[in-house]
Amino acid sequence: MPLPAEIRAVSGRLAVTKNFSVAVTGHTDARLSAAIARALRHCEERTGLTFGRTADGLFARADDPARASLVVACAGPAADLPQLGEDESYTLDISAERAVLRAPMLLGALRGLETLGQLLQGDADGWFLPAVAIRDRPRFPWRGLLIDVCRHWQPIEVIKRNLDAMALVKLNVLHLHLTEDQGFRVESKKFPRLHELGSDGNYFTQDEIREIVAYAAERGIRVVPEFDIPGHAASWVVGHPELASAPGPYVLVRTWGVFDSTLDPTNEAVYTFLDTFLGEMVSLFPDPYLHIGGDENNGAQWSANPRIQAFIHEHGLHDNHGLQAYFNRRLQEILARHGRKLVGWDEILHPDLPKTAIIQSWRGAQGLADATRAGHTVLLSNGYYIDLSEPTSKHYLNDPLPVDTPLAPEEQARVLGGEATMWSEWVSPETIDSRIWPRTAAIAERLWSPRDVTDVDDMYRRLGYVSRRLAEAGSRHEANREPMLRRYAGDRATEESLAALRELVALVEPVKGYQRGREQPETTQFTPLTGLADCATPDSQPSREFAKQVETVVFGDAEAASLAPWFAEWGRLAGRVRSAAAACGPREGELMALADQLSEASQAAGEALAMLASQTETADLAWREAMFACLDRAGTPRAAVELPLVAPVRLLVAAAIEKTRRGTMPPDAWRAHLPAIAFPKKPE
Ligand code: ACM
Repeated sequence: MPLPAEIRAVSGRLAVTKNFSVAVTGHTDARLSAAIARALRHCEERTGLTFGRTADGLFARADDPARASLVVACAGPAADLPQLGEDESYTLDISAERAVLRAPMLLGALRGLETLGQLLQGDADGWFLPAVAIRDRPRFPWRGLLIDVCRHWQPIEVIKRNLDAMALVKLNVLHLHLTEDQGFRVESKKFPRLHELGSDGNYFTQDEIREIVAYAAERGIRVVPEFDIPGHAASWVVGHPELASAPGPYVLVRTWGVFDSTLDPTNEAVYTFLDTFLGEMVSLFPDPYLHIGGDENNGAQWSANPRIQAFIHEHGLHDNHGLQAYFNRRLQEILARHGRKLVGWDEILHPDLPKTAIIQSWRGAQGLADATRAGHTVLLSNGYYIDLSEPTSKHYLNDPLPVDTPLAPEEQARVLGGEATMWSEWVSPETIDSRIWPRTAAIAERLWSPRDVTDVDDMYRRLGYVSRRLAEAGSRHEANREPMLRRYAGDRATEESLAALRELVALVEPVKGYQRGREQPETTQFTPLTGLADCATPDSQPSREFAKQVETVVFGDAEAASLAPWFAEWGRLAGRVRSAAAACGPREGELMALADQLSEASQAAGEALAMLASQTETADLAWREAMFACLDRAGTPRAAVELPLVAPVRLLVAAAIEKTRRGTMPPDAWRAHLPAIAFPKKPE
């Protein structure tokens, strides 16, 4: 994962033994050697084999390519720093004799080594690489992950391990969201009050930024920094209130949302300041692209300031949006002088915005289409908001250029790719990996693999595999779960209690979208993220499997009775969770409530099954109302988690209610009818 553009299995396998050796025939350099060494080390760690080493501890190279297990033939170098649109293609031919990795440029060799690592497997006959012929290249040149290090600080270890994980799935842009109302996360030697007063001491030093950029470049990943202005700017004006559109003083924001602090575009000193600041930042971030944010400026300070409104009038800027366009134009001139191209969110789109600016679309397909038609190059992030706890399948099927795209071919050519966005309202360094991975691997595939690679079941099958590779590469998405659960359960919890909690957590998901803020409105930046919702992950595997099995019953011809073991298991689990709750002290209330919900779902499902099986009984209104009332209770969020298995149980109840109509309806009509019964629209 991502699935290669072309992959053909051929018969045979290349054995991987302790004699595995590598020859490099074409171009070579330190970056390629380091990538080969990382790939070999991962093979060693998985197999337990120790490959040959030189006297100084480096992996030995085969002198004769004809005798090497792996030949890396790279035709040419790459730019020192990865560049947008660089050739990332490669071919990989594995036979019983050897594996040959060919790439026109260095980046392709790095990508091919990741593919090789994913092919390694073992069986009773030993470790091996299956024989294959792969021709691979990315569909889109910009395949990114945004990490918001502001709302919750994410130190350099988090960034580095996520860069390793990104490399594994061939993502090539790390977008660092570095400034926000809640934190200014980069050291400025020119304006030290920015990070000193704007970060609680949590910021990247300039040395750390250089380290991140170098670490990313080693892995063929660009780093694009974002300095979000003119809105989302409270952390700037804590130390520099003179830049704001209203008098200070200002303090850091500790909660989530859209706030008023906004830079003043009518103040020439703001541009002088930004010129100096951005000049300093471009010396740290060598990529030609720099993101200026531009989203969610509520205009409150501008509307309230008569001087700013007079400026808008005098300059014929019409309104606040016109003023922001003026600000962006000025910024674009500053960036151009520093050799940078401007990137910003949807909201910067304006007829006056220079066409060289890239628009990153977060609000929807329309925003992407509007910006593309206006002549901009664009990136898609709408649909890739991994902070919203949505299922992997939803992100996976979100294509920047779907088959029915309304864009003309020349407009399509301006769609560069997309980025998953890890906004950090609800993640700590302990939980962030479990929100990014493995779901982002599916987004990586969407952006790399051909458009027709859309088999969701096959994606989930491969996601389980790649999740283990990601964990081996250093991602903490699996590793942190158990200690978190133990801490949640408390020291009095027994092994039996923990086993019950583990199963419960596997069945629940954090609430979706922006609902957690409504469930836990008291939350601030200081609230620990150590609850049940933080232990749970967004795409419950058993719930998904149950939902699939329900579909085979209600839409296919599987026996309804095949579902019974599920409900019986939930019933038993509810009992075990109740026992565990008593040992979990202060957590008892929420665990008891969840156990009740699990029981109710189990009971409703059992009754639906009996109704479906009955030759004599049909569901009357009272039965229907009782069932849905029970499932409404079971589906209510508790401790910011919900039970996704309730939705398929509702389908089952609907099938029981409508069982006499099934035979009278064509399959398509039945498929459309059942959800309408299961999920009735609530009156407003
Ligand atoms: C955004 O989510 N405000 C870019």
